[in-house]
Parts: sequence; C-alpha cells; structure tokens
Amino acid sequence: MTIEEHKGEFSISTDPERLDVPMIHRFLTQSYWAEGISMDIVERSVRGSICFGVYHQATQVGFARVVTDRATFAYLGDVFVLDVYRGRGLAKWLMSVIVKHPELQGLRRFLLATRDAGQLYRQFGFKSLAQPERFLEIHQQGLYLRP
Ligand SMILES: CC(C)(COP(=O)(O)OP(=O)(O)OC[C@H]1O[C@@H](n2cnc3c(N)ncnc32)[C@H](O)[C@@H]1OP(=O)(O)O)[C@@H](O)C(=O)NCCC(=O)NCCS
Repeated sequence: MTIEEHKGEFSISTDPERLDVPMIHRFLTQSYWAEGISMDIVERSVRGSICFGVYHQATQVGFARVVTDRATFAYLGDVFVLDVYRGRGLAKWLMSVIVKHPELQGLRRFLLATRDAGQLYRQFGFKSLAQPERFLEIHQQGLYLRP
C-alpha cells in the first residue's frame, strides 16, 4: 500500500522507489542516535520498514520510518527534516500522516525514543512510559563508531 499526500510544493510518500537513500545515510550517519551508521545498514533498515519520505517537488527533504508487524506493534525511528526546511510544520504534517496510516491502526503499542523532541510527538498522542520498570532493552550505544 502506497500513501501519497500533497500540500503546495511539498508531498509525503511511502513509495520506497522515491527514497533518496544516500541523503538518508548522509543525515543519519551524523545524527546523535545513529552516528557512524553504514550505508549497508541504512539500506537494510529501509527495506524492513514502512518509510515516509517528505519531498519538496522532486527533492527529498525529510524522512521517518516505522518498524511494525502492521497489526499490534510499531516503533517509530529516524525522524528528521533537513535543516533549511525546518520550522514550517513539515514534521508535524509527517507525524499526522504516520499516525493515520491505514496499516498502523489499532496497534496495542506504538513506541519511540527521543532526546529532546518529545513535545513534537506528544501532540500526536505519544506519552512517557507509564510503567518504565516493565520495559527492558538491549541498547548498544555507539555501536556504529566501534572499529
Ligand atoms: C525534530 C524535527 C524533525 C522537527 O522538524 P520541523 O519540520 O522543523 O518541525 P515542525 O515545524 O513540524 O514543528 C515541530 C514541533 O515540535 C516541537 N518540538 C519539540 N521538540 C522539538 C525539537 N527538538 N526540535 C524541533 N521541534 C521540536 C516544535 O516546537 C513544534 O511544535 P509547535 O509548532 O507546536 O511549537 C527537526 O528539527 C529535525 O530534523 N531535527 C534533527 C533530527 C532530530 O532530532 N529528529 C528527532 C529525533 S527523535
């Protein structure tokens, strides 16, 4: 299922063929959460996710992906808008498209992690973990920076 939405010169699409994977890699490999990530791992992560591209005409300027079974659970990650396109509501529009995606309805749990953008996601129903003591993780901090 491919979703496409338009607002003036901007669009959001889940068509994997439209993704600018080198641009996504360039951003993520310098991000605070995936610093040093390789092109190969970005390509694999894109193949295994519902990916949302934000486009200014034909140019990709934003991204997010959702890892999901399309029934009970989803994890939102790798959300970004390129610097020069920030502050004009693109991430909020992107979030509105993600939360209403037909394959992401009726989920028992939709998770994400963020350092400082919680106020963005709270506007779309995400809340701090009610019982964080019930969650466990294997988190390999700095994994992609290791030799
Ligand atoms: C976070 C990011 C995607 C926001 O993109 P954007 O298109 O500029 O965002 P919008 O214009 O749609 O507005 C974002 C909303 O979230 C709020 N917000 C909360 N935390 C924020 C943060 N850390 N950065 C930007 N906006 C934030 C803004 O105040 C705004 O809400 P408001 O209009 O009610 O004030 C963008 O700044 C970005 O790519 N940052 C670098 C990567 C990153 O940190 N991604 C998030 C990882 S969890």
